[in-house]
Amino acid sequence: MLPDLHHSRVLSGMRPTGRLHLGHYHGVLKNWVRLQHEYECFFFVADWHALTTHYADPSVIPGSTREMLVDWLAVGVSANAATLFVQSQVPEHAELHLLLSMITPLSWLERVPSYKDQQERLKGRDLTTYGFLGYPLLQSADILMYKAGQVPVGEDQVAHVELTREVARRFNHIYGREPGFEEEAERARRRMGKKAARFFDRARRAYREQGDESALAEARALVESQQNITIKERETLLGYLEGGGRVILPEPRPLLTGAARMPGLDGQKMSKSYGNTIALRDDPEQVAQALRTMPTDPARVRRTDPGDPEKCPVWPFHLVYSDETTRRWVQEGCRNAGIGCLDCKAPIVEAVTAELGGIQARIAELEADREALDNIVAEGCERAREVARDTLEEVRHAMCLD
Ligand code: TRP
Ligand code: SF4
Repeated sequence: MLPDLHHSRVLSGMRPTGRLHLGHYHGVLKNWVRLQHEYECFFFVADWHALTTHYADPSVIPGSTREMLVDWLAVGVSANAATLFVQSQVPEHAELHLLLSMITPLSWLERVPSYKDQQERLKGRDLTTYGFLGYPLLQSADILMYKAGQVPVGEDQVAHVELTREVARRFNHIYGREPGFEEEAERARRRMGKKAARFFDRARRAYREQGDESALAEARALVESQQNITIKERETLLGYLEGGGRVILPEPRPLLTGAARMPGLDGQKMSKSYGNTIALRDDPEQVAQALRTMPTDPARVRRTDPGDPEKCPVWPFHLVYSDETTRRWVQEGCRNAGIGCLDCKAPIVEAVTAELGGIQARIAELEADREALDNIVAEGCERAREVARDTLEEVRHAMCLD
């Protein structure tokens, strides 16, 4: 693990606006399950974000929040490995959002692509609100609160992480330059020892005078690897290196989740708004029905017409669920019309049903013990609040609010 916790911290959230489906499971949650063992992870239910679009009918939010937490646990997200919480239960997020709003130019928010896109897409809702404009900044507050180094997101959220980087940079630029910063940096530099300090100077000069990016990267790595300096000294040195002030809010990076590994029933991205999902809570009848009626290669009008798996939305399901033997059987049987489409779908019906059966059994267990779930969430929220309070203390101090 990296020495600096901030860089090994991972944070991600989901909006509780409906049921989780196979796209969430294969595209997002399996990734979380893996990450939780490699990094310090914070996963949360973004119920305030849900409210930005669902403010007129918020009644779906509490039920979805609860289901979402249960489903996460059922697929293997672990409350021991990761911190699980609900955004609105950590009201510090609202304060950080407010404070960041002071330094965020309106134009930065107006030009985030999802702003106009979503207003176009969700025509039925009035999204000309202050809250919706602030959506990406609220997300920035979520991320910066935990000083997350990596944010697992889909393609559509990268612009929000980019905005977060800009906001962090601006914040550090304005508030990281306390009086005496240079002296403080000098002290921290000496604390690394003679040899490291000399290397640091050379690299800093190469970057500042010649814009040498690799020197910057080397110096950063040097600072990150120091065991004997405090977190504050490290932040000072990182800020000093780039010529700005102390880094109070580190810039996060998006961690792209291998997106459409699980396309929907119609071959488009699996998404509730396209109505092409299989929900984690669908019963076996619904699953079988959905798969049986899903479209196939349009060239196979009759059973005797040959087809091409590459042109069929069923094929990606085989890539997720079937072994090599079955896949070969599909490739041949489809191309020479040796099998029918229902034959082809049968192993998938079986695999999806078995997968969901396991998940649903765990869901049932979790739902039988509401108290245990309440405790998990309460503990997660408390753990999150501890980190949030620390960050806010620094932020308030930087903004002369203490
Ligand atoms: N906007 C994200 C989405 O719609 C959800 C979200 C809110 C989030 N805050 C976040 C994701 C912080 C990552 C980090 O999917
Ligand atoms: Fe698609 Fe399978 Fe039918 Fe070929 S046989 S068209 S891959 S469902």
